[in-house]
Amino acid sequence: MKLFLDTADVAVIKDMLPTGMVDGVTTNPTLIAKSGRNIAEVIAEICALVEGPISAEAVATDFETMVKEGDKLAAIAPNVVVKLPLTWDGLRAARNFADKGIKTNVTLCFSAAQAMLAAKAGATFISPFVGRLEDHGADGIGLLEEIRVLYDLHGFETQILAASLRNPGHVSAAAVAGSDAATLPADVFKALVKHPLTDKGLDQFLADWGKTGQSIL
Ligand code: E4P
Repeated sequence: MKLFLDTADVAVIKDMLPTGMVDGVTTNPTLIAKSGRNIAEVIAEICALVEGPISAEAVATDFETMVKEGDKLAAIAPNVVVKLPLTWDGLRAARNFADKGIKTNVTLCFSAAQAMLAAKAGATFISPFVGRLEDHGADGIGLLEEIRVLYDLHGFETQILAASLRNPGHVSAAAVAGSDAATLPADVFKALVKHPLTDKGLDQFLADWGKTGQSIL
């Protein structure tokens, strides 16, 4: 499963790049606003840092303007993925971009029916929002499983990009549910490696090693 960073903060991306695990980046209007930067500038900088897909979201709600915005975003770099909301206009725009060979990420997906429409529109990625569904008492991971079954059954090639993930358990569950990719904030990304027994075991090994008085180098 590919791992994407869900951020528009270049410093955060630079910090995580040496892990070799950052396969792409997703942004949204909230994250761009949080960065305090111009969208074209920050997306260009991220695209130069990370080779994989970089999602940049259109903010218009009508088809014509969405397409103009998406064309402008896609022209920033070859690895830009145009992010579109799951509305009829967004789906129409997704079809327009698919026909032009431009990759898309259809976002704000909360049902398998919506995911089916995105796939029919030729979306490259579908982003089901796990955490926000759970905030409303629904089964976010269950939705990922349902979309996996639906896509496999009907041969849809749209990739499932699990989004709105709040903890490492969400990430592993998304992987088990067959998601193709997951996008996570840096704190969740960093927490993936942590386990108290790893820390405890390492402390013990180092303490025992210290008693030997040896040095490997
Ligand atoms: C995904 O593309 C979204 O940017 C993101 O995952 C939303 O996460 P949130 O629900 O934590 O804001």
